[in-house]
This record gives sequence, C-alpha cells and structure tokens, in this order.
Amino acid sequence: MSTEPQTADKTKTTRLTTRDLSMRKGGDPQVWLTAYSAPTARAMDPYVDCILVGDSLGMTVYGMDSTLAVTLDMMIAHGKAVVRASARACVVVDMPFASYQASPADAYRAAARVMAETGCAGVKLEGGAEMAETISFLIDRGIPVVGHVGLTPQSVNRFGGYRAQGRTAAEAKKITNDAKAVSDAGVFALVIEKTLEPLARAITKAVPVPTIGIGASPACDGQVLVVDDVTGVFDQFKPKFVKRYAEVGRDVSKAVAAYAADVRARKFPTMDHCFVAAPKKPAKKK
Ligand code: KIV
Repeated sequence: MSTEPQTADKTKTTRLTTRDLSMRKGGDPQVWLTAYSAPTARAMDPYVDCILVGDSLGMTVYGMDSTLAVTLDMMIAHGKAVVRASARACVVVDMPFASYQASPADAYRAAARVMAETGCAGVKLEGGAEMAETISFLIDRGIPVVGHVGLTPQSVNRFGGYRAQGRTAAEAKKITNDAKAVSDAGVFALVIEKTLEPLARAITKAVPVPTIGIGASPACDGQVLVVDDVTGVFDQFKPKFVKRYAEVGRDVSKAVAAYAADVRARKFPTMDHCFVAAPKKPAKKK
C-alpha cells in the first residue's frame, strides 16, 4: 500500500462513497481515522478512506471524562468543519449519547439534521441487537449507518469502565449476535472496539460487511484510531492498542516554551516582524 497522497486536488477529486467502502469487504485494508477540525481533516484527507467525526471529541477537544455530555450541536459544528476541509475521504459523523436510543423516529430526526447540516455521507451509532430496528429505519429512509459493537463507550456506566470485552463465552456470544444483528439491519461497515482478538477475527469472518477494528484484530477489514492518539496531541497516557507516529503534544510544549523565553528576553519580535512605512519614491523628473 502506497504512503503517497492518493490525490490532493479538490477540483478533480471525487469522494469515496459509503458504497465504495461497503464493497471492499476482504479487500485492501481500509484506513479510517477520527478528525474534529478543518486543519486536521485537510491534512489527513489524501491518505485515509474514511474520516470519522467521533464523539471522542468530548474527551480530546473538550476535556470531558466521557462521551456522555456530547451534544448533537457539537457533533454538527465539528462535522461541518471536517466536511468543508476534505474532498476525497468519505466522512461519517457519530450520533451522540441520547440522540438516537429512545425511538427510531427520534433517531431519524437527529440523524437527518446531522446529514443535512454537515453534508456527511453517513452516521455511526453504538449498540447491537437492541438498535437493529432503528438502524433499518434510518437506512430505509436514506441514511447510511455504521454500526459499533464490543466496547461501546456511551455505555461506560453499564460496563463499569473501559476494559476489553468478550472475555467470557457469554460476552463473546452476545457481541457476535450483536454484530450479526446490525449487519443484517444493513450497516455499510461495522466498528469493533476493544474486544479479545480471536472474537474480532471470528466476527470479521462471520459478517458480510467490512469490519473496522480499534483494539480488535489485524484481521479486520480496516482500522480506525483517534487522531490525537496517533499524533501524540493527547499524551497523558497511551492505550495498549494505539501506535503513536508523532509527538505533537511534546512539540507544542517545546514551541510555546521557546516563544515564551524569546518574549521575556525581548528576542521576539525583531524588526523583521514589524511594519514600517515604505521609503518614499523620488518624484519623477518632468
Ligand atoms: O468516537 C470515536 O472516536 C469512535 C472511534 C474511536 C471508533 O467511536
């Protein structure tokens, strides 16, 4: 797989569609990554297949300690920025907690706002068999959906934390049934988060839709990570399933420390950073 940008020219680019991604079951690994802002979306767009505007932004952008307080308006604001700044990648926006669980009709109203106001290609929602009816309801009405099973962070209070799922035979059976139910309901891709590896591998074999793993298995049809983990913007701790490719958080601290030292020592600004009136041109002789 090439590391060259796939294309960068916005005028000549056609976006990958949800159909393009759903057709790639068992093909080249799909590259998914979260983004929440225009500059980050612009930087990753040539390299990724799908940008997920994840509700993880509650933690990464807003410093919350879970995703539960993220609102529909927050998702729409960040979704708009990401769609505006990207041209090639398919963009999917997460449905936040309490915006879709109560009923299919509530889910439709919220998801339709996300689609219409951001211009994204589809939405992702967490849950298994209990969400299958809602997923079909949305898809039948023109809203492509990504499923999300395994560790579903919006249910952190039910799980009692963020530990890997599928450790007992009963848990593994439930997650497998959930994956099959949302796949049967018509999702175009299925995120599997933080399960034991053999379970994610088995689900990938069992369902006809592409599986996108995070802390799941190299056998998944694609991988997704949180961009702040990949780039080291978030550097308080590194989950086991993350590979860090840069240390942006450390570099930002270094840059700010150097700037602060320069200002205090009157080394910045210099005259090169200042505006002075242009010297007057001599008047032309008649
Ligand atoms: O919110 C998010 O970022 C996600 C991914 C980590 C799958 O749901």
